[in-house]
Order: sequence, then C-alpha cells, then structure tokens
Amino acid sequence: MPTYYVTTPIYYVNDEPHLGHMYTTVAADVLARHMRMAGYDVFFLTGVDEHGQKVQQAAEAKGIKPIELADQVVKRYQTLWPRLSISNDDFIRTSSERHRQAVQNIWKRLDRAGAIYKGMYEDWYCVPCETYWTETQLKDADCWQQKICPDCRRSVERVQEESYFFRLSRYQEPLLEHIHSHPEFIAPESRRNEVIRFVEAGLNDLSISRTTFSWGIPVPGDEQHVIYVWIDALTNYISALGYPDERYLHYWPADVHLIGKDILRFHAVYWPCMLMAAGIPLPKRIFAHGWWTVEGEKMSKSKGNALRPADLLDHYDADLLRYFLLREVPFGQDGDFSFDALKQRYNTELANDVGNLLNRSLAMLHKYCDGILHFGQAEEALDRALIADIEGMQRDVDEYMYAQAFHLALERINAAVRHGNRYVEENAPWVLAKLGQTGRLRTVLYHLVEALRLIALQLWPFMPGKAEAMLTQIHNGPVRPAAWHVAREGGWGGLREGHQCAKPSPIFPRMD
Ligand code: MSP
Repeated sequence: MPTYYVTTPIYYVNDEPHLGHMYTTVAADVLARHMRMAGYDVFFLTGVDEHGQKVQQAAEAKGIKPIELADQVVKRYQTLWPRLSISNDDFIRTSSERHRQAVQNIWKRLDRAGAIYKGMYEDWYCVPCETYWTETQLKDADCWQQKICPDCRRSVERVQEESYFFRLSRYQEPLLEHIHSHPEFIAPESRRNEVIRFVEAGLNDLSISRTTFSWGIPVPGDEQHVIYVWIDALTNYISALGYPDERYLHYWPADVHLIGKDILRFHAVYWPCMLMAAGIPLPKRIFAHGWWTVEGEKMSKSKGNALRPADLLDHYDADLLRYFLLREVPFGQDGDFSFDALKQRYNTELANDVGNLLNRSLAMLHKYCDGILHFGQAEEALDRALIADIEGMQRDVDEYMYAQAFHLALERINAAVRHGNRYVEENAPWVLAKLGQTGRLRTVLYHLVEALRLIALQLWPFMPGKAEAMLTQIHNGPVRPAAWHVAREGGWGGLREGHQCAKPSPIFPRMD
C-alpha cells in the first residue's frame, strides 16, 4: 500500500489554541481522511512545541515550571482535537524522551558531518518568534530605530553569548538547486518565489544553541547549551516516526508539511538544509497557507479578539466550522472570518443545496416508492450526464486534494449538488408520478439517491459527522466510511435493487 504522510506545525504551549491552529489541523485532517479513503497507508501527525525562551517566560509569568504550563496547555489541545473530529495518528510532545533522543541524535549527525562549529553570537533575537535577526536585517526592514522584529513587530532583544552555529551557508546552492529541480516542493507559487529570493540573497550560518536559559534539550557533550528551539521543533517530523530507528523511513519523507506563511523560512530553508547535512531525504512538499483576520481585524491577545475554537464549538457544529474554513478562502491566501459569512455559506450551500437535495430526494422516494430503490428502466441522456458529472467530481476532487486546493474541491462537489437539484427539476418526478410513468420515476429516484451517496462520500473528509448522517439515511443504518475505499465503495451503482432508505430528517436546518 502506498504511504501518505501529512503534518501540521507543532503548536507552542505558551498560549491556548486559536483559530490559526484549528485551521491547519482541520486542513491536515481533511487531507488525511481523503487519502485514507483513496487507499493510502496514511500517517497524520500533530503535536506541541514545548521548549524555548517564549514558553519559559510564559511559565515564569504564571509562577509555574515550564513543564507544568506545558502539561496544562497540552490538555487543551488533546481535548480540542476530538471535538473537531481530528483523526491524527500520533501526537508528539517535544518534552518526550523519544523526541529528546531523536534531536540529540540528529545534532550528533550534523556534528559528524562537520556542519556545526562553536562561536559567539552577538546580534538580536525575537522571543515571540524565536528568531535570530542581524543588525543588517533589522535595518533593511526599517526596524532598527524601534528595535522591533520585522515579522511580528514586537521588541527584539540583544543577545551576546557563546553559541554553536550550523553551516547554513554551505547549503545555499544545493537548496536552490533542489527548489529549481522540484517545482512542487514549495507551494503556493508566490511563497516559492519568496523563498528563492531569500536564499538567493545569501544564507548566513545559523546560531543553533543558547546558554542564557535552560528550558530545552541539552547539546550532547556540552550541557551548558540548549539546542535552538527551531532545530528541536522541526525534528518532530521524524522523531514521531521513530527516528533514528530505520522504521521512520516507512513514512518518511513526508508528502506534505502544512504550515502557515509566517513559518515558511524555517520549513523551506532551515529544515531542508539540516536534512541535507544529515543525509536524510527532504520532505516532498511544503504548503504555506495564509492568515485569518476576524471581522476584518488582525487577531491579537491585546485586542482580545482571538477566536478560541473551544468557544466556537460551544455555538457551532464542528463540521460547519471545518467546511467554512476550507470553503471560504482559497488555501494559500489570506482571508477573513466573519459570522455573517459563516451563516451565509451554511444557508446557501449546505442548507439550501445539499440539505434540500437530500430531503426532497428521500421524501419523494418515500412518497412514491415506500422508500425502496428500484433500477427502473433504461438510462436516458439526462441520467448519463448526471453519472458523468459525479464521476468527474470524484476525479477532480482527488486531483485538487493532491494540490491542497480544498476550496476548489468543495466548489466541485457543490457543482455536482447543483446538478442534482437541476436533475430534479428537469425530470419532475411529481409529474412522472401523476402520469403513472413508474419505470422512469424509479430510474430518476435511483439516480438521485445514488448521486447523493457518492456526494456524501466526497464530503466525508470535510464534514465527517454530517456526511455520516447523510449516509445513515441513505443506507438506513449505521455506516463506517472511515473503513471505506473509493475504489470499492465509490463506484456508481453501489446501491442495490430493492434497497430500503430511511425517511429523511433534516441534517442542515436553516440558521437564523
Ligand atoms: N511552534 C511553532 C511551529 C513549529 S513547527 C516545527 C509555531 N507555533 S505557533 O503556535 O505559534 O503556531 C503556529 C501556526 O499557527 C502557524 O502555522 C501559524 O501560521 C498559525 N497561525 C497563527 N495565527 C494565524 C492566523 N491568524 N491565521 C492562520 N494561521 C495562523 O509557530
């Protein structure tokens, strides 16, 4: 069985989960579910990033130990993900023993490759971003006067300490060569160009250890130093697979690392260079999505407008939130979360289109045929067009998923739903019933229900609960799509002659 490995970033435990964390994790889940259904042996990883100065400072501010803070926040994530139907196969904590061993191992491997040397770091550091900045970079970004971070625009601090360095500069040309020979490596295109410009401008060696705080993984053989949190964090993608044990190669290299645009440089520059130096294959793809604003404003702690998934889930169905996040904004672009837009999407696309198609189809099946499906008579052009569209939807959605074009996948499914509603109008089953054309009536109802079944199957990765509810009505009993494969259950004609469907009950009631 081919493998498919998808990851989310691991989230800092200095603060609670917010909309941004939920976004990437939902996207990864949709991909994982789709790929499992497509027949892949999928590994879907998420987790938390527990080390570093930022987490240490947050713990100090609360008067507790960093590990105590981590233990508290990790629970928030671990209780949140099931509420959102996240089907991760593992959850990595960077404070775990398995992770520590992997990070120290990769450090030694880099050291043996001659990629690490000791020196002095005398420049700037942004704690919120856990990022080093040179004076020149601050000046180039117009941040020198205020001494602020070019990325997050919060204060940077001066750091002067002994440090180990990674010979990043050595990998400038090999990295460029890799990016050019693998056009799919960084997506979307605009982000890829951004990385190319950054690398072409020249890579400086990277400071990869700190001595002025202690919350991290010690450098092997020099315990005064803790390993730079990004070197530590990036290694999660292989530590969770069992690295350095060879079994990590079952899923590695990753098929896609899903990340936000703000952490692209770490994933598309530092990580591949580290892997090259260590002689480990590079991930196949890195996809950087955009950022959400909320009702037109940047989310921030100070404004108090950061959306907490746990609060959203108290008022909105998990599947609706999942649908909205991936439908509203093309993956890769920035977007705005607003409650009006959420309601609008739901009422038009789910309540009106999908919900209506399911309700009217099953209602007519019950009214005219006691809820029993019959093949009816020979197919006509309208039927063949519907089947072709459903099969086209399956192919297109699959293709869009490989490109992480979630919004296009949903648009394509919605187009099939609209086709279904059009098919109802074109065939007017109520007229066929009146005219006593039972054969044709049965054919039409069969096509509708079968189309709905295959639509629900494509919707399942996006809205597992709602799609299961749809399938439960169609199948008239419990279903387990998690165990289904499109190659087996996804073919046209799966519903049998004489199959009894359940009575419709609303799955997408209108929202006011
Ligand atoms: N710990 C690092 C990642 C290490 S991965 C080896 C980190 N953690 S984080 O908790 O700060 O959050 C990470 C993710 O949240 C990033 O992918 C970031 O893009 C995302 N988001 C934070 N705010 C966001 C929005 N407003 N909108 C969308 N995503 C946002 O960085």
